[in-house]
Formats: sequence, structure tokens, C-alpha cells
Amino acid sequence: MDWKTHLIEDRRNLHQIPELGHEEHETQAYLRDALSQGGLDAHTVAKTGLMVEIPGRAPGARVAVRAEMDGLPLGEDTELAFRSRHPGRMHACGHDGHMAMALAVARRFQANPPQKGSVRFLFQPAEEQHPGGALDMIADGCLDGVDRIIGLHLQSPMPTGQAVLHAGAMMANSDRFRIVIHGRGGHASEPEATQDAVLIGSQLVAQLQTIVSRRVPATDPAVVTCGAFHAGSAANIIADTAEILGTVRTLSAQVQSQIAEEIQHMASTVAALYGAQAEVSYTPGYPAVINNAEVANLWASSLDGAIQLVDHPPIMGGEDFSHYLNRIPGAFLLLGARPQQYFPHHSPHFTIDEDALPIGVELLYRGVLALL
Ligand code: NI
Repeated sequence: MDWKTHLIEDRRNLHQIPELGHEEHETQAYLRDALSQGGLDAHTVAKTGLMVEIPGRAPGARVAVRAEMDGLPLGEDTELAFRSRHPGRMHACGHDGHMAMALAVARRFQANPPQKGSVRFLFQPAEEQHPGGALDMIADGCLDGVDRIIGLHLQSPMPTGQAVLHAGAMMANSDRFRIVIHGRGGHASEPEATQDAVLIGSQLVAQLQTIVSRRVPATDPAVVTCGAFHAGSAANIIADTAEILGTVRTLSAQVQSQIAEEIQHMASTVAALYGAQAEVSYTPGYPAVINNAEVANLWASSLDGAIQLVDHPPIMGGEDFSHYLNRIPGAFLLLGARPQQYFPHHSPHFTIDEDALPIGVELLYRGVLALL
């Protein structure tokens, strides 16, 4: 079987057995088997993850390639012959393709080892589940002795044949917050005896929208979204409490901590204005994906003729690849894989253009060679 057929077959086989984070047993067994058929002995890491190393002909740098393994808690609604065989589970983000590409690159290096240095492949569980499987991989020593790391993500909105690889910010810090206003409820006809949590919460939601428009530099992108507001029970009752749930997306650590402080400050100030109290919890999510400039530039310069690199602003989604990038130099690439009929990532109709897969293999292969 030629390598492209093998690649597509791996992707389709993996697509049929999606599993949730930390439960990737069948996926792990498939990968272990595929690697061992290629003469590669993989070690278990992070319980359901795998690590495998291919030494070169002479000592040198070690470069890691990372692929995520987990699917999503979603029932697949496509007509594909190779659709999910696991009810309520789906590879709706492209991680099946990431694993298949990493396998293909591993086979290529196994058949033809690098002149010097070594390549390490990291198959990582639980990317979709905060706090993310990357931390488990790192705790298990996956980055020990690694000089540089690369990874990529298929992007269904982006045309096949295009990719984004910046020196700098690729994806955002994605944090969450929860605010509870503790007021004093009472009779709707007697507001003077209450602290109206609905009013205070409403003022606060409006006030929070001034953080991005009036407190943060316009040159440093940020999003503050209040996604949920829960309060009250009846028309003639003034609510005792109100709960606001939201998310914050930022690119710089500076703006991230500024916004966390502003939320705290505004919540307590607005509540105090009415004699009430606000309780704020702010939970940092995945850090921003910031590519190392040297690695990104070296990788990009090796891609001539293989892909069209396009300029694209950072996307405000999150990825736990950032945990690796915060420890060693590396770069993350976004690879266009737009199918004829496009559906967003995490949709039950999601699919990718498989023509992007051999392109991704070539990009990863060249990246490793350029960095060794
Ligand atoms: Ni993903």
C-alpha cells in the first residue's frame, strides 16, 4: 500500500473509534499496533497517550511532533461510510487526521532516519478537556531532552492548500469567570427595602463591556463575553442573587491579568454602589499559543512550494499546545482543510478535506528536518 492510501486508511479507521479525553484506550491500541507494524516500539505516557522515538544516524538535536488523540461528546450526523461507531462520540475537530499524519511522518522517518539528531512523536490524550492532557504528558517526561516541538491543527474554514504559521501569537488565552451578586430580595412593591440583584447584575454586565472598549489598548486584542445570566423567579419578587458566567479571550499575559483585575474591581464596586456584595471567581484556561519566532521562521522557510502560507490574525480559540510552548521553543501551524460542504469544528456534521492530510505530512516532515 502506498503511503497516501495508508494515511487515509489510518484516518478513517481512527475516525470510527472516537473516545473522550483520558479514555482513549482503543485509539491508543490502534496507534501502538500501527507503530509496531512499522517496527516502532511506543511507550505509554499520560495513561492513554503514547511516546515513540526515532534516532538519527548521528547525535544531534531532538525534535518532537505532537498529535492529539481525543474526540468529543457528540453524536456524529454525517453520511460517511466510515462515520463514528461509538454512539455519542465523534472526531469533530480533526484529531483523527492529526494522528494519521503523525503516523505517516513516523513511518517516513523510520524508513529513512535523519542524518543526525532524533525525532520524538507525542500522541497526547485529552486536548479538549481542561486542564488538558499536555500537562500530563509533560509530567511524564515527554519534553525531557527535547530541543524543539512542532504541531499543527486542521482548519475546516480555511481552504485546502493554505496554512498559517506566524512568528508570535496564533491562538488566545481562554479563561472563564463566574460572578455571584449577593443582594437582598423582597417584595416588588418595596424596592427601598432591598438590594436588587437583577438591577446590579444588569449594570455590571453593561459595565464589563467597557473593559475592552475603554480599559484595554486597542492594539492588544481581547474579548469579554457574558454568556449566561441567571436571576429571579417571579414578576413580583425582587431577586436576592444573580449569577453571571463569562469567558475572556486575550493574546498577551499583560492584558489577561489586567482584565482579571478589572472584572474583580468592577464587580465589587458596582455591587457596593447598591450596598450589595459580589463574589468573583476567575479561572485561567489554556494559555495563548505563542510561536517561537526562530522556530516558526525556520519551519516556514522550509515550506517553499509545499503550501501557500497566508497572513491571518490570531484566532481567539484555545489549545493546550501552549503548555509545551511555554517550556521549550516550538511552533504550531494551522492547516487549511475545507471540504466541499463546510461545517464548523465541533459540529455533528463536521468533516475535513482529506486532500489536506498528505500536505500536512509533508509540512511536518520538512519542519522536523529544518529543526534538526
Ligand atoms: Ni482540536
